[in-house]
Amino acid sequence: MSPQPQAAVGAPLSRVDGRAKVTGRALYAAEHEVDGAVHAVIVDASIGRGRITSIDTRDAEAHRGVLRVIHHGNAPRLPYRDNSGSNNPSGRRLRVFQDDRVLFHGQPVAVVVASTLEAAQHGASLVRVEYDAERPSTDLAEGEPGEPTNYARGDVEAGLRDAAVRLDLTYHLARNHHNPMEPHATIARWDGNRLTVWDKTQWVMGTRDELAAVFGLPAESVRVISPFVGGGFGSGLRCWPHVPIAALAARETGRPVKLVLSRKQMYFGVGFRPSYEYRLRLGADRRGRLVAMDHEMDHETSSYETFVEGVMDPGRMLYSTPNVRQAYRTVPLDVSTPIWMRGPGPATASYVIESALDELANELGIDPIELRRRNEPAEDESSGLPWSTRRLRECYTVGAREFGWDRRPTRPRSRREGDWLIGMGMAAGVYHTARMPAEARVRLDIDGTAVVETASSDMGPGTYTSHTQVAADALGLTMRAVTFRLGDSLYPQTGPHGGSMTMASVGSAVLDGCNRVRRQAIELAVEDEESPLYGVAAEDVVVRSGRLHVRNDPARGETYQRLLTRNNRSRIEARGSYTGPSSPERHSFHAYNATFAEVAVDATLGLVRVRRILGVYDAGRIISPKLADSQAIGGMVGGIGQALLEHTVTDHRDGRIANASLADYLVPVNADVPDLRAIYLEGEDMEADPLGVKGLGEVVMVGVAPAIANAVFNATGRRVRDLPITAEALI
Ligand code: MOS
Repeated sequence: MSPQPQAAVGAPLSRVDGRAKVTGRALYAAEHEVDGAVHAVIVDASIGRGRITSIDTRDAEAHRGVLRVIHHGNAPRLPYRDNSGSNNPSGRRLRVFQDDRVLFHGQPVAVVVASTLEAAQHGASLVRVEYDAERPSTDLAEGEPGEPTNYARGDVEAGLRDAAVRLDLTYHLARNHHNPMEPHATIARWDGNRLTVWDKTQWVMGTRDELAAVFGLPAESVRVISPFVGGGFGSGLRCWPHVPIAALAARETGRPVKLVLSRKQMYFGVGFRPSYEYRLRLGADRRGRLVAMDHEMDHETSSYETFVEGVMDPGRMLYSTPNVRQAYRTVPLDVSTPIWMRGPGPATASYVIESALDELANELGIDPIELRRRNEPAEDESSGLPWSTRRLRECYTVGAREFGWDRRPTRPRSRREGDWLIGMGMAAGVYHTARMPAEARVRLDIDGTAVVETASSDMGPGTYTSHTQVAADALGLTMRAVTFRLGDSLYPQTGPHGGSMTMASVGSAVLDGCNRVRRQAIELAVEDEESPLYGVAAEDVVVRSGRLHVRNDPARGETYQRLLTRNNRSRIEARGSYTGPSSPERHSFHAYNATFAEVAVDATLGLVRVRRILGVYDAGRIISPKLADSQAIGGMVGGIGQALLEHTVTDHRDGRIANASLADYLVPVNADVPDLRAIYLEGEDMEADPLGVKGLGEVVMVGVAPAIANAVFNATGRRVRDLPITAEALI
């Protein structure tokens, strides 16, 4: 078939759902109107570990409006079938109200259902729970690590011995919470044995399958609806305990139930980026070429599930290193289970590696960019595979030029403006290009409009818009003529909306479905004696604004509408699919960036102000430049948070999270966010997927924190290896 003109893809369009969002017509999970819905509020454990000895619900039940209090003493036993194909980590997932054990501070111990939210909240405060409390273990430094996952190539000890320069550095990274604008929320309704939930989730199919497993239902009996998600950053990648609690409460009361987590409950009711201790020993020759890297990575997980993330990849493939060893361990603690948070493992690994490279550059007196250039690998040394595309060198060149890297003070603590010490830093970022099988349903109607449906989510990156762009061009329609629907488990299946997989995976399924529909229409036309396109070779026909015509003769053609009407076809339909990457892969697929930061640090007070950040991205084709900018800017803001502010603090005496609120857990606000700029290298990666995209949402966060940390060193001469970098550490 003839390649379609690309009118929408690559154009800086605004969100197709923007108006719905700003006028409030876009409904988020808790906003759906479900007739007869009542309210549920969870009672959280007030100990960090132990047993419930008694629950007194009399006062709560006597409160006006309270319908039911459910806890382990009266809840039915639930099937909790195995669901290991999901995003559930290995282990034994938390089973709500199935026994008297308390595994972490804040664990749900009861739920109060009432006719109003206020009655449910007050009722929850009246439930009296007695415990047999034990001292929890919540401190990563004191936990007992599990068996390591190991990787090795070459001989690290010999490499370190022979190296001209050696560094042995230990980094501590704080626990971070996602804190999306929209709290997690669920409305559950039973119709006989069928369960419908409106849920905040990044994966309607995953939530469907987990609810089916918990309640022992066939998957077809559960429907999950989630058309809008107000931010996720990974917190919606699995079905957390409050979702089955809402469903259980609905079943026990015979009423639809709405359950919204409080801001406080968002700190133990859903996951978090685990805290890490990361030791890196590295050796290099005098010219800065890496000889050996030895990584020891420990992070927290819960006592009941082993969460693991892809933290090992950057250390194996980002730089040419003959001798590499990695040991990755999880440390079970009396905490709830962590989950991926934006940029996940690579953001952590890159913080360490990029900070350490900055130390090496400083030690050797080599420019940090030059040092990285000297360690640029010819292939992926962890797999021996060639790169699909890797344009990190160009990222450095463009970034250095656009940022004004030549104005960087070469000596630390050498530039001062009044009270402020000024510094510049840079870092590289990398994120693997992941893809998942996906399907889409495409329908072209007789009026020349189309509907595309997939079960994907849109947590904010603009899936509605970018996929409408792909569909519009593939069908040859205007943006307005295409309606894109997502967020319903009745739609064709997709994998989780995360890991920067959606554009490549769902987008490729959409492209395939739209191509199939267009092909059917073209074939119909060229075989139709009454069509002006009769007898034309199908590969010479393109479609533009709903009109099929000969590529080199735009006057010869007709509209979809005419074609379908004359042929008595009310619609043309097709199912599009994307089967995922080839197995085994023939290339190493990654998106890259070079990130540059300038900071000012108050010499007396230690305050760090980020002055500007520039990210240059090698992410393949950019489908939607305006939304890409929103992603990049969001990633940079996330990186400012990770570098300077975000820190979930646990009181190790009882496992309580001490700053479980947006007043006490610091995130960047407008005044913390300076001039941010994103540049995308033009091009595509056609080995990666049919759209040529490499994923953007994760890589934009990777590299930001180390660029800031390296700028802080350049400004102050002080190397802080723990995140977040606080004023206390700099005075
Ligand atoms: Mo992303 S951490 O997979 O939402």
